[in-house]
This record gives sequence, C-alpha cells and structure tokens, in this order.
Amino acid sequence: MTGAAADVSAAAAASLAVPPAIETHDLVKRYGGITALDGLSMRVERGEVFGFLGPNGAGKTTAVKLCLGMARPTAGSGQVLGAPLGDIEARRAIGYLPELFRYQQWLSAAEVLRVHCELAGLARREWPATVERTLEQVGLTERAADRVGTFSKGMQQRLGLGVALIGRPQLVFLDEPTSALDPVGRLDVRRIIGELRSEGVTVFLNSHLLTEVERVCDRVAIVDRGRVLAQLRLADLTSDRTVRIRVSGLAEADVPGHASPDGNDWRVVEDVAPDDVPAMVADLVRRGGQVHAVVPGAVSLEERFIGLLGSGG
Ligand SMILES: Nc1ncnc2c1ncn2[C@@H]1O[C@H](COP(=O)(O)OP(=O)(O)O)[C@@H](O)[C@H]1O
Ligand SMILES: [Mg+2]
Repeated sequence: MTGAAADVSAAAAASLAVPPAIETHDLVKRYGGITALDGLSMRVERGEVFGFLGPNGAGKTTAVKLCLGMARPTAGSGQVLGAPLGDIEARRAIGYLPELFRYQQWLSAAEVLRVHCELAGLARREWPATVERTLEQVGLTERAADRVGTFSKGMQQRLGLGVALIGRPQLVFLDEPTSALDPVGRLDVRRIIGELRSEGVTVFLNSHLLTEVERVCDRVAIVDRGRVLAQLRLADLTSDRTVRIRVSGLAEADVPGHASPDGNDWRVVEDVAPDDVPAMVADLVRRGGQVHAVVPGAVSLEERFIGLLGSGG
C-alpha cells in the first residue's frame, strides 16, 4: 500500500470510530399542552459550523437545552460527542452561550471568566493565561477590570461568548449570539467562529437571522414547529448552474433567461456552466447591452427558507 492510500484508509477508520458531534432521533419535548419539539432528527458532524435556523418559537433553544441535559426529552433519544444526552463527562467538553443570560453585575469581566475557569475545572495555575487569552479573543482586554453592570448588551454578549470558550471545548452551542450586537460585534463573532472552525471545534449556531448563518455556516438545518424541514449544505446553494443578471440597453427579448419572480429588473438564466459566463457577458456587451451585475446562484437561502416555511415543509 502506498503512503497516501494508508493515510486515506486510516482517516476512513478514524471517521468510523469517532461518533458525530450531535445526533438526535425523533426528539419530542412537550411542556404541558405545548409541543416544543415534534420529532427532531438531525446529525452534526465533527468540525462543522452548523446553523440551526428557524423563526421564534421553532424549538431551537429547547433543542440546545436537551443536547446539554438541561431538560429531558418527552420521547426520542440522542447522543452528543458519543455520549447520551445529559452525560456529565461530555458536558465538560461543551461550551454554551445561552440565549438570555446575565452575569453577576458586580463582578468584573476578568472575575466572571475566572469563576468559569473554576467551574470548568481548570487548574488554578491556568486561570490567568486562560482569562487573558479569552479577553483577547472576544475583544474585551481593555475592559477586563470593569464591572459587568457597566457593560452594554453587546459587551455582555462578548463576555458570554468568552465564557463559552473557556476550557477549549470540542463543541460550542451559541444561542442567538449576535442578537444584541452591532455590525462590528457581528463581524467579531463571525471571526471567532471562523477561528473555532480552523481549530476543528464544532459549532452549533442557533439563529433566526438568515444573514448570520448564511455567512458562517457549512450546513444549515431549517427548523419550524419542532421539526427539521430541510438540511442543506450552503456550498450547494451557490454552486448550481443558474445566474442572475441585470442588463440595460437591450430589448427584453434579446436578453437570455426569464424575468426574476421578485418583479425586479433581474433576469434569471438557467443552466449556465460557470465557464460559459464570460462568453455570455461578452455577447451581451457586443450587442450593445450594459451589464450591471452577474450573480451566480438563483436560489438564495432566504428564498429557500421562506419557501419551506410557507409550504410547511
Ligand atoms: N419552559 C417552557 N415552558 C413552556 N413552554 C416552553 C418552555 N420552553 C419553551 N416553550 C415553548 O416551546 C416553544 C419553542 O420554544 P423555544 O425552544 O424557546 O423556541 P426558539 O428558541 O426557536 O425561539 C415555544 O412555543 C415556547 O413558548
Ligand atoms: Mg431561542
């Protein structure tokens, strides 16, 4: 066997041996008469940035609570990092940014992080370096000594993110991490998620914001009324053979494709190989057209999302 073939089979053996980051089977959670989860099945691979996208009330927070063992399923089962839901050992390797949280207002940012170093069971000698690195990571170094009570919502959310990262978790749950953040804060969260991905950390991102998951996630599950309506790889959405174009200066009949259903002045051209796009543009220009925009991919996540929610699956 060549070295390369040996590596490939070793990798295949390893992927068989390592269970997925998260796997759930028909999870049901009822609160009295309310069904928060209605047969939720999903699988999240190790190292993925996975978006859990759905409207308010879809069951996103409930799903995370079940994965963390903070609530018990009414029915169904699941595993997180290969351990059953709620396993204490597995919990140590998991970071969590809750949706609604408040840290003790009288503590400083550094003190909050130190408390969580202790809760995470880190050796005392590791605390100072961990606190320093985490403050740096979430952009709060300058505010380390300031009391949380003086922090804006966005700064509190950064601190929450820092808490979720203490102890170098293998899997991080972020529940609406950017809801309180301004554009700069959102960019920072995206950067942090990118860093986690490059370190091989699995990220489970709850969000009702399309633009958020669209930019950072490898794969998205669209969830509504406690069920996964669709799971899609974001790369597949944009790698189809459709382009949108916006052209002026030509009669409508002389522009390829059909009018965009949005009723704007875009045209949708189906079945164009990416390599054929330059020739198509050159042809339009040669015939006197002015090409304002050429955008690959006809179906945005937003259209898929709205379409799926509208049809109930
Ligand atoms: N502790 C609870 N008691 C009663 N109902 C709950 C509780 N937690 C969630 N729910 C209900 O379950 C549904 C899903 O809620 P949630 O998981 O918070 O949705 P999301 O995070 O997607 O907005 C909602 O109808 C919500 O009101
Ligand atoms: Mg929620």
